[in-house]
Amino acid sequence: MNSVINAILDRKSQPRLCGPAPAPEVLEVALACALRAPDHALQRPWRYLVIEGEGLQVLGEVFAAAAADPVQPIAGDPERMRQLPLRAPMILVPITCHRHHPKVPPLEEQMSTAAGVAYLLLALESQGYGAMWRTGELAAHPAVANALGLADNEQVAGFVYVGTVLAEKPKVTRPAVADVVRRWPSEAR
Ligand SMILES: Cc1cc2nc3c(=O)[nH]c(=O)nc-3n(C[C@H](O)[C@H](O)[C@H](O)COP(=O)(O)O)c2cc1C
Repeated sequence: MNSVINAILDRKSQPRLCGPAPAPEVLEVALACALRAPDHALQRPWRYLVIEGEGLQVLGEVFAAAAADPVQPIAGDPERMRQLPLRAPMILVPITCHRHHPKVPPLEEQMSTAAGVAYLLLALESQGYGAMWRTGELAAHPAVANALGLADNEQVAGFVYVGTVLAEKPKVTRPAVADVVRRWPSEAR
């Protein structure tokens, strides 16, 4: 098998991360891979934020404030929310930008973003770093979007925690190909 196939088959999320974060040249390559995502009508329906250092503490304040939001509170201890971004030395925020193209519905823009994030994860892992894509209520919270400077046509696609792997997580098993693939129309569901 070639190196691309091996990288895909070996990919895994890594929740336990520490410093150092990827060096700028490593990050540059990983983000360039993300920007290779398939993109209907070449709308570039995505952009990324890079957060590290003090920015992680600022993001923790944003999370804590969102958790305590009187209009849309999030269940859980705001103090815990404040600590969440400190689980890694770097967080990348993929953002879907809805372009309102007549042939490209919002779902396709989200799918293009997700394809880019998948490439990003692979590119980081293949360069020796761990990463974990997280979403949850915080990713969908308007106060978080507002604090991150998103426009009305934009949407947080998650938080990709990135760093050096502290403790390797075992690979999660996947179904066998034969379990989820059928020839159509010859094979029944
Ligand atoms: C869109 C998306 C959102 C995710 N959000 C979370 C999350 O909020 N918390 C979490 O622990 N994992 C999250 N994950 C990661 C999955 O838990 C992880 O991919 C899954 O457990 C399989 O593990 P693996 O990636 O190591 O194969 C998310 C994955 C995707 C694709």
